[in-house]
Amino acid sequence: MSEERATLNVGDDTLDLDLVPGTIGDTGIDINRLRPTTGRITLDFGFANTASCASKITYVNGEEGILRYRGYPIEQIADQSTFLEVAYLLFHGELPTAAELASFTEEITHHTLLNEEMKKFFDAFPKSAHPMAILSSATSAMATFYPAFHNPVDPYAVSQSMIRLIAKLPTVAAFAFKKSIGQPYVYPRNEMDYATNFLNMMFSVPTEDFEVDPVIARALDVLLILHADHEQNCSTSTVRLVGSSRANLFASVSAGISALWGPLHGGANQRVLEMLAQIHEDGHDYEKAIARAKDKDDPFRLWGFGHRVYKNYDPRARILRGFTHEVLERMGADDPLLDIAMKLEDVAMNDEYFVERNLYPNVDFYSGITFRALGFPVRMFTVLFAIGRLPGWIAQWKEMVEDPNTRIGRPRQVYRGEVLRDYVPAEQR
Ligand code: CMC
Repeated sequence: MSEERATLNVGDDTLDLDLVPGTIGDTGIDINRLRPTTGRITLDFGFANTASCASKITYVNGEEGILRYRGYPIEQIADQSTFLEVAYLLFHGELPTAAELASFTEEITHHTLLNEEMKKFFDAFPKSAHPMAILSSATSAMATFYPAFHNPVDPYAVSQSMIRLIAKLPTVAAFAFKKSIGQPYVYPRNEMDYATNFLNMMFSVPTEDFEVDPVIARALDVLLILHADHEQNCSTSTVRLVGSSRANLFASVSAGISALWGPLHGGANQRVLEMLAQIHEDGHDYEKAIARAKDKDDPFRLWGFGHRVYKNYDPRARILRGFTHEVLERMGADDPLLDIAMKLEDVAMNDEYFVERNLYPNVDFYSGITFRALGFPVRMFTVLFAIGRLPGWIAQWKEMVEDPNTRIGRPRQVYRGEVLRDYVPAEQR
């Protein structure tokens, strides 16, 4: 609590409000007593001014373009850490010792197999099924295999569910992909690291030897790190909200995957690639895309641009911009869509509409080109985002469950409908 206070005058009522300062960043005005004292509530569309919790996991400063996991700058983490180490850090708050990391990695590695019965589940989907639909359903279905681990306040059950989710989501994703292209499922290999194993399940076939390029595996690991958490975004808030009803971790994460699928959130990475391909097809007509993005009657947006919190360059996009170049160069590849992306960024950043609104490239703008360079099809992009975001969802869910201030998430509304009417039978309407 801060010594500073806020005062709110509503009609004849005056309410003295506590301030809850962050260790860094925003200070919250605690309005817990607002309705009981004044009979009034707040109205905040899209929760743009509302903190739903106090958290110690991730710090974002949107004005300065800063992102830190548990206090560590994303630039250092992306450069020096690994995805599983980041998952440990997000869950436990501290970097693991070598022994702790080894045991955490071993536990995850030993849970990568899916129950064989799950294979029938994949068969039930049409070949054309979007992998995000499969990922969300399979995550929910996983709960049916582990009913003994549903209790959200049993630390052992939670830690087992956490391990299983991190271990199995890549297997689910790779099976969904294999199903979509009519190839046999490739089982996980426990001697491989997390990213290598995933790439092997995605791209190897039983008929020939396949070796995962370590450069590609490291690039994928970095991409997953960059997506690992982003405080109270739409999907994370969904995971917390669902979990606040004491729903199990599988159910909560499944809801988060559905939220991520939307094109304003993680689904934007697929839209970015489609947009760049369209610009390519249109003979590099940047102005057409820019004009459509500005047209309020057109649902099209400049995908991969803008952010609720960042009013500056998204630090993840900044890392990815250089990283994408590096990955393409090291693979000896060239992608005309990268040139198109850079030119589009240049055009947008010099356009008054984007400048006035502080619309900068976000993480989704360059991630897709890198995913593509690594060999992933466009429809898998949001799935990759989900695999990356999973540790963040779990860490936030766990923090929510352990927080004594948590109550079931249940917003209020300002009712603006009809006040009271008498029912009119159909023949009299
Ligand atoms: N293209 C064109 N106009 C835009 C864009 C865009 N990409 N983003 C925002 N605007 C405009 C918007 O129309 C509004 O204009 P006006 O003031 O004239 O009404 C203004 O900028 C403010 O935008 P907003 O929609 O009110 O901002 P928001 O905070 O509610 O939405 C956003 C944030 C990310 C949903 C939005 O910027 C957007 O739709 N971007 C494109 C989709 C995208 O790239 N999403 C990925 C977000 S980052 C990673 C993730 O979360 O998954």
